[in-house]
Amino acid sequence: MRLLLVLPALLALTHDVYSARILSLFPHTGKSHQMVFEPLLRRLAERGHHVTVVSFFPIKNAPANYSDVSLQGLAHLGLEVIDLSIYEHPSKLLRMIGLEKIVKQITEFQPLADMALSVCSKLVNFKPLADALKKEYDLIIMENFNSDCMLGLAHVYGQKAPFIYLSSCGLMQWSPGRLGLSDNPSYVPIVSSDFANPMSFFQRLENTFLNIYYKLWFRYTIQLKEKEIIEKHFGKKIPDLQDLSKNVSAVLVNVYHSLYGVKPLLPGVIEVGGMHLDHTRKPIPHYIEKFMNESEHGVVLLSFGSLIKTATIPKHKEEMIVRTLSKIKQRVIWKYEDSGEEGTITGNILKVRWLPQYELLQHPKVIAFIGHGGLLGMTEAISAGKPMLVVPFFGDQPYNGASAAAVGFAKVIPYIELTEKSLLEGLQDVLSAEMRLTARRASKIWKDRQADPLDTAVYWTERVIRWGHQAPLHSHARDLPLYQYLLLDVAATFIVVIIILAVILRVMLVLILRFVSGSVNAKEKLH
Ligand SMILES: *[C@@H]1O[C@H](CO)[C@@H](O)[C@H](O)[C@H]1NC(C)=O
Ligand SMILES: *[C@@H]1O[C@H](CO)[C@@H](O)[C@H](O)[C@H]1NC(C)=O
Ligand SMILES: *[C@@H]1O[C@H](CO)[C@@H](O)[C@H](O)[C@H]1NC(C)=O
Repeated sequence: MRLLLVLPALLALTHDVYSARILSLFPHTGKSHQMVFEPLLRRLAERGHHVTVVSFFPIKNAPANYSDVSLQGLAHLGLEVIDLSIYEHPSKLLRMIGLEKIVKQITEFQPLADMALSVCSKLVNFKPLADALKKEYDLIIMENFNSDCMLGLAHVYGQKAPFIYLSSCGLMQWSPGRLGLSDNPSYVPIVSSDFANPMSFFQRLENTFLNIYYKLWFRYTIQLKEKEIIEKHFGKKIPDLQDLSKNVSAVLVNVYHSLYGVKPLLPGVIEVGGMHLDHTRKPIPHYIEKFMNESEHGVVLLSFGSLIKTATIPKHKEEMIVRTLSKIKQRVIWKYEDSGEEGTITGNILKVRWLPQYELLQHPKVIAFIGHGGLLGMTEAISAGKPMLVVPFFGDQPYNGASAAAVGFAKVIPYIELTEKSLLEGLQDVLSAEMRLTARRASKIWKDRQADPLDTAVYWTERVIRWGHQAPLHSHARDLPLYQYLLLDVAATFIVVIIILAVILRVMLVLILRFVSGSVNAKEKLH
């Protein structure tokens, strides 16, 4: 009997975890998010774990013991869907009164809510997901982005396993509190801003406002509504998703401070930026390699990522870009969806439909990168040590650009400020020997870590499997009510004590004065 009780404890003390059952829940439709998660999930399966992945992106040649539950068909995928013309006509009025950026940030978040609710209302009804959630697991991995629907569903199906979050970008504003992490807006810029430290008074004002706004926005436009969707479908009450989320064991964040800026961390907030970078190289298509080989002064890469459909760029802007690029002596490779099978060459520009971006960035002939500031491209550029011209559009892109500029290996030109003059000047900066040197140094610092980021991610994932709730990695801040966290009770006490002391002091002063003037008067009377 004794032995039976001791045995599991002894097993837990050995440091390996063998074939744990891991369920991964990714309800977001953005392909770039999945590109970050996939290498970790693969690696976990290769290490002998049983990995079940619920996502919109089932993988090809999956390793043994890796199984996909496909969500395909439940929503449109976020791939080359963003039409650039929406960025062409910003409001002049808002710009004049300085509110343009705030309004832009607030409005561009709205689609995230619509997406989350629409997917959630389908997930509650999705049998393959229900089947997966009915099984037992040792760990659940969830994406921490715009939805808590999966969290609610895991609860409905009685999941008791510890869970961790993966974040393919920096932490969203509603996430730090889940682990009790400080996100003081005096020095932690929010994920959609374009701020870098030190922030001016107005920047801190905006940063504080948006920090609070986004927390409330997520709570009221997503979290409470998802709870409602789940309760309505299953006909029973579930706990507040906010409370469920505060049971998370750790969060792996796809950033690294040498690019993203130094911020407060906790043992359970683990920077794994770069974990998706593939160490096996894809071959570079022959026609691209030939184009690069023949360049005398090197090549500049231009890509606006997977979400933006570059071919929707307005004609006048495209012509302006082509005209400017034709003025530099380097050759240019441009990721452009509407180009021919073998690419289309105009002057020094090769337009290609698809390119192996990371492999090209590593290529010695490629000397600079013009991109939109998506975190994956930035990560690839800093890892390869190539300077960047960042043309940010939305989401975290302005912030990523600002961070890279603060490190010194990038120049930022917002899309609406993109003109022949600004582009040419920007390119000259980026192609300068100085910035190329800074980029190479940034790359060395980026790579100088205790462990490879993918190994780090695997380690912490398995650590949570080993110890779960027995080895907490969060701070007590997450359990504090707001008034205690902000020390409002303590501050109030101080204020009351100070007021009482002031009153006592005043009364004493009055008494002393009275006494002194009384004795003076008495003396005067005597004279
Ligand atoms: C797959 O799982 C089975 C059962 O746990 C295990 O015996 C086998 O070694 C695993 N395969 C791999 C490649 O890890
Ligand atoms: C959080 O986890 C603990 C430990 O497993 C469990 O006892 C508790 O019920 C969980 N809380 C919620 C709200 O699920
Ligand atoms: C490009 O140059 C490299 C090194 O000189 C060579 O190995 C490769 O075959 C060349 N590729 C093409 C397509 O010309």
